[in-house]
Amino acid sequence: MSRHSGQATKILFVDDDPGLRTVVPIALAKDGHEVDTAGNGMEALSKFDAGKYDLVIQDVRMPGIDGLELLARLKEADPETPVVIMTAFSTWDVAVAAMRLGGFDYLKKPFDNDDLRNMARRAIEFRTAAEDKEGDGGAVRFIGSSPAVKEILDLVRRVAPTDSTVVIEGESGTGKELVAGLLHAQSPRRSGPFIAVNCGGFSETLLESELFGHIRGSFTGAVADKRGLMELANGGTFFLDEVGETSLSTQVRLLRALETRTFVPVGGEKPLKTDARFVTATNRDLREMMEAGSFRHDLYYRLNVIPIRIPPLRERRDDIPLLAGHFLATYSQRFHKDLKGFDSRAMEALMRHSWPGNVRELQNVVQRAVSLAEVDSVGVEHIAPFWKMEAESLASAPEAGSGAVRAIPELPDAGFDLEKTLQDIESELVREALEKTGFNLTKAAELLGISFRSIRYKVKKLGLEY
Ligand SMILES: Nc1ncnc2c1ncn2[C@@H]1O[C@H](COP(=O)(O)OP(=O)(O)OP(=O)(O)O)[C@@H](O)[C@H]1O
Ligand SMILES: [Mg+2]
Repeated sequence: MSRHSGQATKILFVDDDPGLRTVVPIALAKDGHEVDTAGNGMEALSKFDAGKYDLVIQDVRMPGIDGLELLARLKEADPETPVVIMTAFSTWDVAVAAMRLGGFDYLKKPFDNDDLRNMARRAIEFRTAAEDKEGDGGAVRFIGSSPAVKEILDLVRRVAPTDSTVVIEGESGTGKELVAGLLHAQSPRRSGPFIAVNCGGFSETLLESELFGHIRGSFTGAVADKRGLMELANGGTFFLDEVGETSLSTQVRLLRALETRTFVPVGGEKPLKTDARFVTATNRDLREMMEAGSFRHDLYYRLNVIPIRIPPLRERRDDIPLLAGHFLATYSQRFHKDLKGFDSRAMEALMRHSWPGNVRELQNVVQRAVSLAEVDSVGVEHIAPFWKMEAESLASAPEAGSGAVRAIPELPDAGFDLEKTLQDIESELVREALEKTGFNLTKAAELLGISFRSIRYKVKKLGLEY
């Protein structure tokens, strides 16, 4: 289905105006596109076939099949082919409705040849980028159908092609990094680098040296010159995660870099240029921090040109079935299982849970359920046993596998149930061993230094298997 470069791209142009059906193909032919035309929706549908066109450009007001209906039918026939709509009565409503139906973008009539050709180029590049991604194991997708998610995706689609700075706000696990990736993938910088740095992961000196690079000898440990990530992000997108964790002095440097598009390495004098688009994320309330004096006003306003807020999963429960289904399909395929879905009690449990770890938690829960389920659909027994532990480990260590120090529980004055506590610890370790080994009992037993018989016994006793 994918086209090779050098091969002419094919466009289907649908409009009831015969004048446009004459001039548009001529304009598009200048860029080497081959154009078929259709005068109404029926004709368009009869010409269309999945994979046949690289792009469809269609009118909204047409006799016969209404433009939005045509768009919906085209998307049903082939969700991959980008469709651009043209609207003379450029009401925002029609454009938004079209975007929600999966339209790529819209062109306001009247448009000139440049608008048309730019749009076509963007849509086709986008498609090519998506195909390239598929080769790497699937394009980035932000799953969800709640009004909040649709709004986020609309906004992403509109701001991705621009160079505006964006702040993505949301609790841990809501998909901030995924949105940053989308902004990059849908931008003209997509062939450039996507550089992400977690500002919370470094001391002030090390963070500045990561960001801006340093000159040899500028601080203890700086044994050689080092290039900063800001330099590496040149031509691409620079994603500053947990930007609320930066010190006030790092904030001054960041602001400088944003304003002047230049930066000076730590210990250096000569400013270096950078041309990167800045996207930031935070799970803290920057406005509150600003009022408290720990985040600079000027940087806040500079970064926050376009705010994108991702609500926690518990505030958009409509998305749960879709997300759960998506993860079920992903992991069923990965674990070679043929799971049909969730039974009604399992779905009810998913819908009711509060999801403190948001989508990341849902993903983990479904992954485990899939690896446990030996029947054809996931039941509540594959989900619930892990919740207590999940909530606890999320509260103490948001990033799984970060090597967090485990606390031995303190002995309360009132005393506690030693058997039960030991069993909890045992259960946690057995579960971890199972996960690490993809639920291979033999390997898990090896990891724990126990016999196969003994792990089988423990797994049963601890209720980790059904
Ligand atoms: N809407 C979504 N559709 C598909 N996958 C999602 C969605 N939202 C989140 N995910 C997945 O959930 C996981 C967590 O997402 P991500 O890392 O983007 O969260 P985050 O907000 O950056 O979290 P943190 O604040 O902890 O860094 C990822 O594996 C991501 O792919
Ligand atoms: Mg993140």
